[in-house]
Amino acid sequence: MLAKKQIQGLPPYAPGKPIEDVKREYGLETVIKMASNENPYGASPAVAKAIAAGASKTFLYPDGYGTALRKALAAKHKVDEGQLILGNGTDEVIQLLCRSFLTPETNTVMATPSFSQYKLNATIEGATIKEITVKEDGSHDLDAMLAAIDDQTRIVWVCNPNNPNGVALGEAELKTFLDAVPTTCLVVVDEAYYEYVELDDFPNSVALLNAYPQLVVLRTFSKAYGLAGLRVGYGISQREIARQIEPVRLPFNNNIFAHTAALAALEDEAFIAACKQKNSVEKAKLRAFFEARGMFVFPSETNFLLVETGIPGDVVFQAFLENGFILRSGEALGYPTAIRISIGNEAENDAFIEKAPEILDQLRASLGA
Ligand SMILES: Cc1ncc(COP(=O)(O)O)c(C=O)c1O
Repeated sequence: MLAKKQIQGLPPYAPGKPIEDVKREYGLETVIKMASNENPYGASPAVAKAIAAGASKTFLYPDGYGTALRKALAAKHKVDEGQLILGNGTDEVIQLLCRSFLTPETNTVMATPSFSQYKLNATIEGATIKEITVKEDGSHDLDAMLAAIDDQTRIVWVCNPNNPNGVALGEAELKTFLDAVPTTCLVVVDEAYYEYVELDDFPNSVALLNAYPQLVVLRTFSKAYGLAGLRVGYGISQREIARQIEPVRLPFNNNIFAHTAALAALEDEAFIAACKQKNSVEKAKLRAFFEARGMFVFPSETNFLLVETGIPGDVVFQAFLENGFILRSGEALGYPTAIRISIGNEAENDAFIEKAPEILDQLRASLGA
């Protein structure tokens, strides 16, 4: 019995090694994970209280509509509740969009390298995938993406800032693009790292929703809000798009802790502002470290850096792993001689900066690089 054609041969998601496994395998006392762009400062203290308060309610199904969270998000973004699509992480919203709009007769346009879930979900739906290589500076080639759109294109993905390189597009570029994309094709702007962005002319994409019926904006609680483990993300679109997707969503796709934690996290704006500020300082420190050693670092508007080391990413990954640092190899991310490093907290970054020169020098010596 064979599963449908599109998924035969698809590799399962390869999660990073858990910290405890790495400790055991390499006999390490401390292991620092800088691989998944999580918030190294955790979540707002209000989150733990909200979760404790919900502990006696586990026998009840969650509110399938997510009414309270919807109301809070609608107020925050000054949109109607019906414009929101709540997901079990943004990952699920991406899946819902693909499931709702892509078929084997359609195609979808995306940048490459970019976030892997667009391609994976489009593949599962059997849609034709048109990948447009990012420009040398790491930014989306919007002209080439536009040229790739045809009558059968149903979704074009704009990852802003882009994962894995952290590069962001400005408002003028995005608007010019939106003006040109036909309204028969969704423009999904994935802003998973929105809270970290410092770019002056970063688009206020939610404000553009009224003008562009094909626009969908994605946000997540997994990064700056520190709720990656609870799985909450959402999309915002015009009502008509959200309405069509709703029946595809699992009835109880966010659990009660996800709802209450996201609500509590949303209210603590001071926590997000503090994390953004610390991330900015720590990012500059790490960037300076790599640049001082002659490595190219992409200009990142996120909480991670993509660094060209000139050494195969898997080799660098392994060397750091054995020394207690879990990074991401660029090999699976479309940058074979780069590593992606999540910005840690001050102590984590200092530990990295102390140890990294020795590891890199040893690597270069052993490779004759
Ligand atoms: C660009 C981008 N979009 C979406 C996601 C998925 O986020 P979530 O945890 O909300 O599913 C990530 C996570 O790494 C991401 O980098």
